[in-house]
Amino acid sequence: MLEALAPQPADALLGLIKLYNADPRADKIDLGVGVYRTATGATPVFKAIKAAEARLLETQDSKSYLGPEGDMGFVHALIPYIFGAGFDRSRVEGMQAPGGTGAVRLAIEVARRAGVRRIIMGTPSWPNHAQIVAAAGLELVTFRHVTPEGTADLEALKAVLADAGPGDAVLLHGCCHNPSGVDYTHAQWDEIAPLLASRAVLPLLDLAYQGLGAGMEEDAYGLRAVLAKVPEALVAYSCDKNFGLYRDRVGAFYAVTGDADALTRAMANGATIARASWSMPPDHGAAAVRLVLDDAELTKVWLAELDDMRGRMRQVRDRLAAAQQVGTIPMAPLGIQNGLFSMLPLNGEQILALREKHGIYMAGTGRINIAGLTSGNIEQFIESLRAVAV
Ligand SMILES: Cc1ncc(COP(=O)(O)O)c(C=O)c1O
Repeated sequence: MLEALAPQPADALLGLIKLYNADPRADKIDLGVGVYRTATGATPVFKAIKAAEARLLETQDSKSYLGPEGDMGFVHALIPYIFGAGFDRSRVEGMQAPGGTGAVRLAIEVARRAGVRRIIMGTPSWPNHAQIVAAAGLELVTFRHVTPEGTADLEALKAVLADAGPGDAVLLHGCCHNPSGVDYTHAQWDEIAPLLASRAVLPLLDLAYQGLGAGMEEDAYGLRAVLAKVPEALVAYSCDKNFGLYRDRVGAFYAVTGDADALTRAMANGATIARASWSMPPDHGAAAVRLVLDDAELTKVWLAELDDMRGRMRQVRDRLAAAQQVGTIPMAPLGIQNGLFSMLPLNGEQILALREKHGIYMAGTGRINIAGLTSGNIEQFIESLRAVAV
């Protein structure tokens, strides 16, 4: 029977990694992979996490099963960081998920069980969003996320919301939009929040890069602005970037509602979906995050590491933005964008020329990983871009 299976397209980014590894040029630059890199190109384990892991090794006395909701100490320790110190705790409950991906999957499946039939989402987006919506059997409605000037397209969101209502969920990136780096401004979030409330749609807020944009508090601005206006929402959270735990798959799913009974049902439905999918999430990374957040000293170390990462990416962005215009590419918008990614308006031929002639590897969409650039290769990157973007 297996020969009846339809072939599947190869993962473009994994193919790019293979090509990069096979390239013998010493000055090749990898802007494809979606992880943070230091100025020396490493993706190290955070010091705070190393310390927490050492403590875990010493003190953990059982690997027995938890439950489908995972480590609730971890889930609750994140709440003040995501929702704010003064947030009404009776409105929110959560459960652990395998990464932000598992959390997005839970949010979309719970939304479907609650009667949502359409997911409204700006494009381009993280490619897995559309895949998860399709896997859940929901209709995807898209609108333009970025204007030609490189700002967030609030008008496009308003236009799609004009035709939206109950039965619709609106999926928004909390910060550090992947792949564009284009976030809504605070003023835009202040307009979006009452609009979502007035249309009675269900907001799905995906916060995968908190702390990598402008700061832990600043990056939660949009999520908190929305939650101050709407009666209910679902949140998907990832610790894989801001704690550097990618392969340990650390995330959480939260439901927010003032209706205590609805909150209990949202969690019970999340738990049954988890049970039938992965039974329970992997524990190690979440336990390490909990130990960091439960210890004031380790929290300080973690936040300082996050500050360093953010500062480095800001430096790279400032240098790129200072180039103003490189061939046909306007560079100034990179300076006001946030997080790991930005998109350059390059065509397929130019992206291929960058790879073949200059050893610069980026996704076929023109997405670049800002953290792939260092003081040692940024001038080479700008000059290569100038050579092809004519
Ligand atoms: C917008 C967005 N959401 C969620 C995720 C999922 O992250 P992970 O499953 O690695 O925690 C990502 C990862 O790239 C992302 O960019």
